[in-house]
Order: sequence, then C-alpha cells, then structure tokens
Amino acid sequence: MRLDKFFSETSTLSRSECSKAVKKGEITVNGEIIKKADFKVDEFKDEIRYKGEVINYSKYIYIMLNKPEGVVSATEDGRDKTVLDLLPENYKNRGLFPCGRLDKDTLGLVILTNDGISAHNSLSPKRHFKKTYYFKTAEKFSDEDVKKIEGGITLADGYTTKPCEIKRLNDKEGEIILTEGKYHEIKRLFGARGNKIVYLERIKFGDISLGELQRGEWRFLSEDEIKKFTASK
Ligand code: URA
Repeated sequence: MRLDKFFSETSTLSRSECSKAVKKGEITVNGEIIKKADFKVDEFKDEIRYKGEVINYSKYIYIMLNKPEGVVSATEDGRDKTVLDLLPENYKNRGLFPCGRLDKDTLGLVILTNDGISAHNSLSPKRHFKKTYYFKTAEKFSDEDVKKIEGGITLADGYTTKPCEIKRLNDKEGEIILTEGKYHEIKRLFGARGNKIVYLERIKFGDISLGELQRGEWRFLSEDEIKKFTASK
C-alpha cells in the first residue's frame, strides 16, 4: 500500500498532509526517513512512525456517535440526514455502516464500523449483547407492566419478544435492556400494554457507554471498547 494511503486509512493524515510531512522528514519506515509519499509499505509488517510515534494499521474502523433526533440510521437516504452525514467527508467511502438501527426519533449511541462480522455478532440475540435504553412513557406504568414486558410479549404480528430487563426509575421513566432489536421493539412492547413511549435514548451498547460524548458528536472507540465490541468474533 502507498504511504499516503496508509496514513489516510489510519485517519492520521490526509494524503496532502502526508506529502507535507514527507517533505519535512517527519515520517520513517523501519527507521529510515521516507522521501516520497507514494513509497510502498507493508501495512502489517513495517514499523511506520509519524513524528516518532508508531502508527498501527487496522483494517477496520470503529466509531461511536451520539445520534440526534431526525437523523436516520442508514448509509444513504433521499430525504433525511443519515448518521454517515455526521462524519467528516473522508469517512464516507470507507464502507462504514451503522450497527443496528435506531428509529429516526430515537437518540443516542450508534456504533459505525466496516467490520461486518463483529457488527453481525453484536446484533445476534444468541450472543446476548445487551443494549440499554433510557425511556419515558406517556402514562404511568405498573409493576405488572414491567413483569409482563420482561417475560416477553406476543406482539400484533405474532412475534414473541425475548425476555428483557427493566429498571424502573419512577412511574413514567426507566431503563430497559434488550438482547435483540426488532423493529420499533420498545415502542411496541409498551404499546401492547396500552402505553406510549414519548422519549427513547440508547445509552449503552454491550458495556460501551456514551460517556461525555455530546449529541451529534462522534469519536473513535478506544482500544478497550474495540476489544469489548469485537469480543464475540
Ligand atoms: N426500540 C424502539 O422502539 N425504537 C428504537 O429506536 C430502538 C428500540
């Protein structure tokens, strides 16, 4: 792979920044200062440094995003803004896709990756990867509602939901943990109990939390978070 491609793929430098860094002698490969941006590197074997710091190559990108309302969990959409539109231009043709879908009016944690296997595993109910949502309901919900929803409910289309956990915060607010992601699942679960979800936000994906990430912002997953996300591979 070309050196400038390596740097843009590792999101360290754009191709033109790489050319400038090469001119300044800031890039070394196996200890040698490199003079040309089209120098060929072995991204898996060579030791590539920028300003003395080793840059590791990863085939995959893992990004966390705090989805605002009105944005769709898709890679393209004729009408609405997508989660990909919230990323800088150079991530748009890297094969990234959202790992599971949040409704347009649901907020919170979305993971974007081009690692199809880990994404698939993290969504598979068999892997019990927990997704935690904070919710508000229009009407008060009872202990009976909690028990019924936790045990699994047969929805209008005949599908019986998998058991889940609900932590009640007060009469109209709580956290719900699902290990599957059926279409409008939480809204339909509460709908089946004659209630309505008026606010829904995903706050955790497995053990990965939004933390300080502000609405509409994104960041790369940390090494530790990547390990958690790819653990089931
Ligand atoms: N359940 C829903 O109803 N909507 C979501 O966006 C996620 C889970």
